[in-house]
Amino acid sequence: MNQVLERAPVVLTDLRPTAADITGEVLAGLAATPKTLPSKYFYDARGSALFEQITQQPEYYLTRVETRLLDARMADIAAEVGAQAHVVEYGSGSGLKTERLLRGLQDPVAYTPIEISRATLLAMAGRLALRFPRVQMLPVCADFTQPVALPAPDRRAHGVVVFFPGSTLGNFDEDEAIALLSAMRETMGADGRALIGIDLDKDSDVIEAAYNDVAGVTAAFTLNLLVRLNREIGSDFDVGAFRHHAVYVRERGRIETSLVSQRAQDVHVAGRVFHFAAGEAMLVEYSHKYTDTGFAALAAAAGLQVVTGWNDERDWLGLRLLEPVPPHDPTPRRR
Ligand code: AVJ
Repeated sequence: MNQVLERAPVVLTDLRPTAADITGEVLAGLAATPKTLPSKYFYDARGSALFEQITQQPEYYLTRVETRLLDARMADIAAEVGAQAHVVEYGSGSGLKTERLLRGLQDPVAYTPIEISRATLLAMAGRLALRFPRVQMLPVCADFTQPVALPAPDRRAHGVVVFFPGSTLGNFDEDEAIALLSAMRETMGADGRALIGIDLDKDSDVIEAAYNDVAGVTAAFTLNLLVRLNREIGSDFDVGAFRHHAVYVRERGRIETSLVSQRAQDVHVAGRVFHFAAGEAMLVEYSHKYTDTGFAALAAAAGLQVVTGWNDERDWLGLRLLEPVPPHDPTPRRR
């Protein structure tokens, strides 16, 4: 018998940053004091693969704890989100948490991952298309820090739910996080919701171990940024002359990851020269850890409010359901 596999084709919207975009951001970062590089460019094919390896390191609790939390609370989450949602995900990654969400929600209509790594995006959308034939796959290859017009599903959706797991929000500084959450509020619409995973403030040793795994996978992941830039924008970073360094700065509630220059050296980017002193640290990533009040304040600054939330049993990690703050009704009440 001839088995016909019926599924909707994957429709890709490609808004990938160009080499010129990347060069511009790198030049700006290297001209700053301290020097910085944007962490979003960690995720080329090798960087995404290394990140998947990080999630399997014993010290990196985030993925394991969040996945278990999602499983444990899925019935509540599905009840809150409701049926026939258009699921939008920021930075889809490997899609393992997504699978759990799509399986747990009631009849989701469409799935739009917004992801900067084209290879990751296409591999994941293709795989999910096979597993979820009733869910229309509408991936968008883009930098999700920019506003994105959502592709319209064929079936009518009852609202958008933005899924933003993994504490990826933590990679943005406060202003960027507020801008991102504001853009998210617009994307989801007045009756939309967002389900956000946040890593919670806790013992520094636990946090620092997660960003300094003994196997050195995180160090390789951080250094891969330089490998990628050398390949894509023609810079000449000496990858062997920088070291990964990640510390938890409790006053700022964040891991600060740097690449530290092991000697005095010059780096060339697009015809410009940047000097590094021996021991100079170039900041490449933040990973913020949140308190409940801190996160609620961040959401409020973006016009969002926390509807409800769930933590794991140790309060290491949280999922928060957000909705837009309803517009203020200026009509005076009679009494
Ligand atoms: C992709 C945001 C979940 O900040 O914990 C992991 C990236 N960097 N180890 C994080 C990362 C170093 C990660 N997220």
